[in-house]
Amino acid sequence: MTSVKFHSGEDLPLEMHKVRIVQKLTLLPVEDRLKAVQAAGNNTFLLRNADVFMDMLTDSGVNAMSDRQQAAMLTADDAYAGSATYERLAERVRGLFGMDYFLPTHQGRAAENILSESLVTPGSIVPMNYHFTTTKAHITRNGGEVVELIREEGLETTSALPFKGDMDTDALRSLAAGDRPIPFVRIEAGTNLIGGQPVSLANVRAVREVCDEFGLLLVLDASLLADNLYFLKVREDECADLSVGEIVRRVSDLCDVIYFSARKLGCARGGGIAIRDQALHDRLRSLVPLFEGFLTYGGMSVREMEAIAVGLDETLDMDMISQGPQFIAFMVNELTARGVPMITPPGGLGAHVNAMEFLDHVPQQAYPAGALAAAVYIAGGIRGMERGTMSEQRKPDGTEPLSDMELLRLAMPRRVFTLSQVKYAVDRVAWLYENRHLVGGLEFIEEPPVLRFFYGRLGATSDWQEKLAAKFRADFGDSL
Ligand code: F0G
Repeated sequence: MTSVKFHSGEDLPLEMHKVRIVQKLTLLPVEDRLKAVQAAGNNTFLLRNADVFMDMLTDSGVNAMSDRQQAAMLTADDAYAGSATYERLAERVRGLFGMDYFLPTHQGRAAENILSESLVTPGSIVPMNYHFTTTKAHITRNGGEVVELIREEGLETTSALPFKGDMDTDALRSLAAGDRPIPFVRIEAGTNLIGGQPVSLANVRAVREVCDEFGLLLVLDASLLADNLYFLKVREDECADLSVGEIVRRVSDLCDVIYFSARKLGCARGGGIAIRDQALHDRLRSLVPLFEGFLTYGGMSVREMEAIAVGLDETLDMDMISQGPQFIAFMVNELTARGVPMITPPGGLGAHVNAMEFLDHVPQQAYPAGALAAAVYIAGGIRGMERGTMSEQRKPDGTEPLSDMELLRLAMPRRVFTLSQVKYAVDRVAWLYENRHLVGGLEFIEEPPVLRFFYGRLGATSDWQEKLAAKFRADFGDSL
């Protein structure tokens, strides 16, 4: 990784790439932002992208691609079966993870569907450091139960702990000693829902030991592995002198299965499952033609597959994988300096605002993280994502589990925004923090039974949004 010092003493993340294709952005006036968010049922997933200035909803499928990825797309081999593109991608995955078998899927959750359909049985439990929304939905759909074993400190919002994503292996051992079947243990790299917090290599090794003791399968969700690799390199002594490729192998050698969303890992659009054991591969394989497509494309466009192969290769470059975490750290540090409650230490994926504290006057039942997402859009045309109680699903008896954390995620798609845009986002969130007393809650108007956060619609519990927009106009004059 290149480290460049500024003579001024400023600590700035310097981009080690240049921009060669651009997309024009629009920033609507605040009155139009208010209308747009209300028309979207206060759900940022339902906003039109054309109405968004900074799209910080996710890093999924929206990271910038490199010139090498774009070039590779032109060499894609279009064939229903036996495409040379598949060979190239499978070889790349094999080279990266050292596993013999690769099944392509159209995205990450499709891999979760195949793993859950094949392995999860009614009454079984799947221990993991922390759940992801789609993972949990697939496991419970197949009658299994997710058991989260995140280390106790993982849920502390502010901390200096380098690996808050680690699993509590004592808890795993006690669970494994019980009598409920465990189809697999899942480790999520770069733990999404608790602020993109990484998992240490030492912890993966400790989990492996428990798996060996009890004959359990270890599955790694590598969707957010790129950020996690950066943190392993800079935060874990054992990795300091290793190349990124060597770090990947230290992790992957401990796992039986590695699946990933290539909308994140590899910076294109797709997914896949790497498998060590042939018998397991054969068992999982039968579902690929059923749900995805033939075994050599799995529902992906061959052009995207070429881009993924190159993207995986580029994941081994510290200049590439450091960009996200460094921009995120910049944003988190700037907001923290302005008093905004942020999840610390800065993790991967994006900057995570602690909505429970930001809006400590809004009860969890009124979705503070969802309300904050709507308010940040009104304040700056910035689209974030609620990661809190709205992202949970109701229990079978209809009661609502309150989320451990109420987060507003401001994702940092890699190499997409400039530093001045990040500074703009900091400015608007800081303004909102000063005016936080104006922000109220939300309530569901339309609530889908599964993954409700994707397309549920909500209304404000009072006229707080109008008041917020008016305050913006009063403070900013004729500025957008
Ligand atoms: N696992 C993790 C850790 C993820 O972050 C995601 C997606 C998936 C699995 C599912 O992959 O979207 O390709 O089907 N996360 C996206 C996000 C949706 O915005 O965080 P997918």
